[in-house]
Amino acid sequence: MNAALDWHLAKALLEWQVELGVTEAISDAPIDRFAETDEVPLPLAAARQPAPAAAPVVTAPAIDASAEAERLAGAASDLPALAEALAAFPHCDLRKGARSCVFADGNPAARVMIIGEGPGREEDQRGLPFVGQAGRLLDQMFAAIGLARNAPSPETALYITNTVPWRPLGNREPTPEELAMLRPFLMRHIELADPELVVLMGNVACHSVLGQRGILKLRGQWQTVLGRPTLPMLHPAYLLRNAEAKREAWADLLSLQARMRALP
Ligand code: URA
Repeated sequence: MNAALDWHLAKALLEWQVELGVTEAISDAPIDRFAETDEVPLPLAAARQPAPAAAPVVTAPAIDASAEAERLAGAASDLPALAEALAAFPHCDLRKGARSCVFADGNPAARVMIIGEGPGREEDQRGLPFVGQAGRLLDQMFAAIGLARNAPSPETALYITNTVPWRPLGNREPTPEELAMLRPFLMRHIELADPELVVLMGNVACHSVLGQRGILKLRGQWQTVLGRPTLPMLHPAYLLRNAEAKREAWADLLSLQARMRALP
């Protein structure tokens, strides 16, 4: 293999590892942990001794992570307390592969709350939702109806969060189990932010909040979540891949704008 090819291969392998979530090189030589064993070989005579009576095994009761999430989320009395409880929640394995716990962005007093899927690479790096390519499209879409995440007035502001606060490695979708475990935090997030209207961006947000999938049918159909009008919309990442669907997204934005005008 020539030197130039070697360099490109090494770069591709490095990028692949970064994509998988590797952030540090710890040692020059890899260690095969699967080959390691705690067993110390015994001399034959010792090995023939009858084994001492086994001590009774005391197993800790299995933790019901969803019930724990429900309890912790319910105990949070405001958004900072909820963010703190979520960041400290130990039972979801997604947190192990993520750099940040991405809680929310925008104005918590906004009339409109947007719920996306989960952080991607840029969101994980910056600790904010929707700051990558899909996020830039999301900002443009809502700017077209006069809404922006950093607007000081609740009237024109947005508040943005996701179904899961930790980036699933490799940008896979969160599993149904992960969504169910973290749902109590999301529902409490809606309660505490108390928006007038909720927008569910894409299938995963609809799955988590409504228990339904099939965004191409659900989009544009108003639903009610915790007593608030809720609009499923196509996810901006889908729109980046399917430009022709922007027509539907525009219709949904106009529907949102009409609802905002109709509400007192
Ligand atoms: N896609 C999402 O659903 N959420 C983000 O935060 C970024 C991309």
